Amino acid sequence: MRKNIVAGNWKMNNDLSHTASLISDLKEQTKTSNAEVMIAPSFTNLWHSFEATREDDIEVVAQNMHFAENGAYTGEVSASMLKSIGIKTVILGHSERRAYYNETDESLAKKVDAALANDLRTIFCFGEELADRKAGNEEQVVASQIKNALFHLEASAFKNIVLAYEPVWAIGTGETASPEQAQDMHKFIRETLNDAYGSQIADDMTILYGGSVKPVNAKEIFGKPDVDGGLIGGASLKAEDFYAIVNAF
Ligand code: 13P
Repeated sequence: MRKNIVAGNWKMNNDLSHTASLISDLKEQTKTSNAEVMIAPSFTNLWHSFEATREDDIEVVAQNMHFAENGAYTGEVSASMLKSIGIKTVILGHSERRAYYNETDESLAKKVDAALANDLRTIFCFGEELADRKAGNEEQVVASQIKNALFHLEASAFKNIVLAYEPVWAIGTGETASPEQAQDMHKFIRETLNDAYGSQIADDMTILYGGSVKPVNAKEIFGKPDVDGGLIGGASLKAEDFYAIVNAF
């Protein structure tokens, strides 16, 4: 089932005390929309965040995980570790992971498999770089990112996948894709899914947009028919701004 989701990706921000105070600020905000709300704190603050939001309509999700079940992978965290503290959803393939930690379509395919094998819902991120868009290759790049990491999956797996289109040139730059650019790409993504898996999966897929979403532009972007919500970076670090975006639905 297609859902409206607004997820805050806190990236490497907020120590424990900032996490606690941001969560308490979030709880004071009024939610008037029908969107599901998620926050993705850093690993060290997942447990606290999970405990602190137990009674609230806020899902705590992880920003990353390793594909192996366990073993000699210093500094890494597995799907079962996330599950053991109650986490149900993980973000995979963020462009910062791809750019700074050499994550590839191939390693991401393994991560997606590991997440799904552990019943973790995956928010799978992808998006073209500025050079791709300038060259007019954005659809080709996006199609290959999705196909390489996801199209080995059986149709039934897609109920546990959320897609997040995040054009790299719009992340943290203040330069948002226009609502039309977002809509065009989301429509193309749905068509790509339709061609491979049929209309049911394409229609049911939740596709988020990420890249400089702010209170001022959220309504117009979320108003597009194929945009089902947002993955929010900078603006998710202030409770008021984040909920202004949530309430844009
Ligand atoms: P910004 O909202 O800061 O552009 O970040 C988007 C993002 O990367 C969310 O994952």
